[in-house]
Amino acid sequence: MMTEYTNWTVEGKYVMITGATSGIGFAAAKELASRGANLGIIARNPIKANEVAAELKALARSGATVDVFIADLSSQQSIREVAKDILQRWPKLEVMINNAGAMYDTRKMTVDGIEMTWAVNHLAPCLLTMLLLDRLKASGPARIITTASHGHKMARVGIRFEDLNANKLYSFPNIVFGGASVRYGETKLANIMFTAELGKHLEGTGVRTACLDPGLVSTNFNQENGWVARLTMSVLKRFSRTAEKGAETLVWLADCDEALMINGGYYKDQQLTIPSAHAQNVSNAKRLWNVSMEQTGVHL
Ligand SMILES: NC(=O)c1ccc[n+]([C@@H]2O[C@H](COP(=O)([O-])OP(=O)(O)OC[C@H]3O[C@@H](n4cnc5c(N)ncnc54)[C@H](OP(=O)(O)O)[C@@H]3O)[C@@H](O)[C@H]2O)c1
Repeated sequence: MMTEYTNWTVEGKYVMITGATSGIGFAAAKELASRGANLGIIARNPIKANEVAAELKALARSGATVDVFIADLSSQQSIREVAKDILQRWPKLEVMINNAGAMYDTRKMTVDGIEMTWAVNHLAPCLLTMLLLDRLKASGPARIITTASHGHKMARVGIRFEDLNANKLYSFPNIVFGGASVRYGETKLANIMFTAELGKHLEGTGVRTACLDPGLVSTNFNQENGWVARLTMSVLKRFSRTAEKGAETLVWLADCDEALMINGGYYKDQQLTIPSAHAQNVSNAKRLWNVSMEQTGVHL
């Protein structure tokens, strides 16, 4: 049977985005506002969020709206509360962008007893998306877009399911070469695998998934991990893209014609790209799915 594609533009769509208070997310939000998307930004710092919202409103194409939702994505209770708030205040949701992310030089635990990188980068998008899924389906066609990374290749042995809280990894915490980088890589690998697996679960529902590698981008990323990390990032900045360039594929995925967005795909520079072999391991993707459902307490 031929697949029927609808024409799509982000103008007038309801777009929720995390991590829009800085870097790639802020650049993407500005572009989406100027293209006429109705934006909801999910942020942890109300003052920063309101300042960003004011900037976005100034750029928004006439008629487009900007709303602020507050959540600390390291807390599952906070995610559940913001999802409830979104469902009450937004009757429609057509694009969910999971972009917030971070890397931590030392092992930190969340209020839920989960290692911080795993909680913020992987479990938060998983939980938030699952809580909003019925609204996305009802608003369909709809899209779920996640900012992954080329850094998923730092997870050289794949996701270490036997050490999900990274007890072993952080015994060598060096942010540049050590366990912290591998842990970050695992979470970005999880973004790619979860995108593919969720895409399969959503076949035929009108909701598609995709994720992206924004390239090496000059942002506030890895600025709170001590002087070695800051020095490394300042050297890397010489080779980095601007935040606007880094946001291009994210914006493109939110705005491109339906036929161009392959369900479950991993994109770089507006092209479908092949991730690492670990990212393509179907049985581990199913295992990740089950673990994620268990750790967030949601089910499809
Ligand atoms: N920069 C790169 O080279 C690069 C490369 C590949 C992939 N990425 C990915 O791109 C995404 C965006 O990163 P970026 O480079 O733009 O970094 P960034 O400038 O540090 O922005 C990170 C965003 O995530 C938010 N965030 C972090 N922890 C949060 C939490 N617990 N609750 C709510 N929001 C939280 C931050 O909020 P605050 O403003 O409150 O801190 C900020 O808005 C991440 O997923 C990252 O893994 C970046």
